[in-house]
Amino acid sequence: MVKLVTTFKYALLSLLYLCAHNMLHVMAQSTKGGSTRFYDFKVQLLEVNKLCNTRNIVTINQKYPGPVVYAQEDDRVIVKLTNESPYNATIHWHGVRQILSCWSDGPSYITQCPIQPGQSFKYDFTLAGQKGTLFWHAHFSWLRATVYGALIVYPKTGVPYPFKQPYEEHIVILGEYWQQDLVQLERTVMASGTAAPIADAYTINGHPGPKYNCSANDVYKIDVLPGKTYMLRLIGALLNMESFFSIANHKLTIVEADGEYTKPFTTDQVMLGPGQTLNVLVTADQPIGRYSMAMGPYMSAQHVAFQNITSIAYFQYLGATQNSVVLPASLLPRFNDNLAVKTVMDGLKSLETGNVPKEIDTNLFFTIGMNVNKCGSRTPKQNCLGVNGGVMAASMNNNSFIRPDTPILQAYYDHTNGHFTEDFPETPLKFYDFVNGAPNSPPNNTGSTHGTRTKVLEYGSRVQLILQDTGTVTTENHPIHLHGYSFYVVGYGSGNYNPQTASFNLVDPPYMNTIGVPVGGWAAIRFIADNPGVWIMHCHLELHFDWGLSVAFIVKNGQGPTETLPHPPPDMPRC
Ligand code: C2O
Repeated sequence: MVKLVTTFKYALLSLLYLCAHNMLHVMAQSTKGGSTRFYDFKVQLLEVNKLCNTRNIVTINQKYPGPVVYAQEDDRVIVKLTNESPYNATIHWHGVRQILSCWSDGPSYITQCPIQPGQSFKYDFTLAGQKGTLFWHAHFSWLRATVYGALIVYPKTGVPYPFKQPYEEHIVILGEYWQQDLVQLERTVMASGTAAPIADAYTINGHPGPKYNCSANDVYKIDVLPGKTYMLRLIGALLNMESFFSIANHKLTIVEADGEYTKPFTTDQVMLGPGQTLNVLVTADQPIGRYSMAMGPYMSAQHVAFQNITSIAYFQYLGATQNSVVLPASLLPRFNDNLAVKTVMDGLKSLETGNVPKEIDTNLFFTIGMNVNKCGSRTPKQNCLGVNGGVMAASMNNNSFIRPDTPILQAYYDHTNGHFTEDFPETPLKFYDFVNGAPNSPPNNTGSTHGTRTKVLEYGSRVQLILQDTGTVTTENHPIHLHGYSFYVVGYGSGNYNPQTASFNLVDPPYMNTIGVPVGGWAAIRFIADNPGVWIMHCHLELHFDWGLSVAFIVKNGQGPTETLPHPPPDMPRC
């Protein structure tokens, strides 16, 4: 008897030992540095047939949407970009924090010269501590209308998702399509002084879907099995619009936003601004059929034209017959349903309680909004088709940002003068009722200043930034994206920001890289400026970015090599 017990004890111990050993093994595997993934990206034209027309679009490797970059947390990614198109090009790795690799960030004239036709450049960065759904897109002119793709970062080997493993995963990229040369379109729009023409179509993974002309078969489809749960990696790759997304009769459970886990939040629809990503779980728990996945406009501004035709894809159950009813996407909210947007925003909380900075070293307050400049005030040749015969602009703290001819990062690194200034104001020069009291027509002064003004941040400073929408011309939800960082969205609200009444969440705020600042409202974000380099922050509506709704942060080096931006790579393109 004694012997038996001992044997049993021994068996139990060895079992425990084996378990521990296995765990150690898994841990050892997961803490060692990642591997290196190589990708070859060629900027190439592709002839496509869409919306009854054939034309050439700019792509990567003749894929539209572009190739998926797969990696695991902590991996190093090297992408050699060769430009075989007639246009300049760069790629931005949207949401990648680019620790000590600002040279690989990609925005043209901010961190690099565009890669000219025939030239190439190696992007080289590490996905340190990052996992989830991110994406990449062109960052020159308006090329990103077709030059985009997913960047999927899996957790380390052996580390599960913090939710039940979905049966399958699918990438769903929301985009806009123009039947025009996008570089030419940008030039025309910028010369006109007014807004851009509306997109010819919305697209889901490049497909407009059956509501558009000649597109009955240009449809994206996901085949599903009844009872299974699917994870959709939703990516907002639109150019000048924000959009709603929903699936008829199905609930979406958000589990990740901008590549960071969230507490599960179930909703009928989501809104994605350009630059935003969401992972949602969908269970195929409805009667067998073919259900519409729908994408439609969210337009919070007044008097702005937009494409109003819904893009449809199919969520199709096994066994659904060809002519089984395609259920209408009645679930899409109205184009101006601000409440639907707020409801989802209210539901976004970090899964873990984060390391939200509690003390603040640098308090910033930036207004964001529209301007109308006097005709001829800057470029007399410009056509003045903006509001009241003016030239449309957009600004932060009433400064319309101008991209210089020499990349700011290079000028900063080389200490060459004359390409930028360091006088971006920490607060607006004038405080007024930003939302309601804004002068919105002449003779009031609706103009902005212009300049390549940067804001310098000390290494390691804990920053709080209030983003305040203004009502000049119109209030609007602006998707503000910061390069090189994610930030905690600690608060947001409608109206003018009031520190006395604003309530902050310092416990589990979402950790994002793009924040849709509520229309006629404000958002408060916090981050620690611990990644040296030059980081652009801008409205991800491309037109607003072009109009100047942007600022560049210069984050200084700290102490020693782990806090210092390395030398530029040898193949850095020249302008
Ligand atoms: Cu996704 Cu500067 O952008």
